[in-house]
Amino acid sequence: MEGGYISKEDTHMVVCYVLELSGRKCPEQYPQKAQMYFSSVCAGCHGNDGKGLHGNYPDLTKKHLIGLQRIKKD
Ligand code: HEC
Repeated sequence: MEGGYISKEDTHMVVCYVLELSGRKCPEQYPQKAQMYFSSVCAGCHGNDGKGLHGNYPDLTKKHLIGLQRIKKD
């Protein structure tokens, strides 16, 4: 982890962790330190449960993420 961001290499395990927060299963094994990365890098805005803080930040556990829809439209 550098300067509060996650590296490209760490992205996969963080994605897996978020998938599992959303009640879905990551198809692969991932290191348990993903939880620590999520809590220290992402939870400040998205919350420890990924559901977003006070409605100001997006809930990452929704089925359809806004960003993905945006990409599809373009
Ligand atoms: C400084 C606050 C902040 C931090 C830290 C942060 N995010 Fe976000 N995140 C946001 C905001 C604000 C948006 C909405 C951006 C928009 O709508 O353009 C967002 C959007 C997202 C989205 C898209 C949601 C959607 O509905 O499409 C994902 C996925 C996401 N963040 C994951 C993460 C992950 C994983 C981390 C940690 C590596 C992280 N974020 C760290 C504030 C943050």
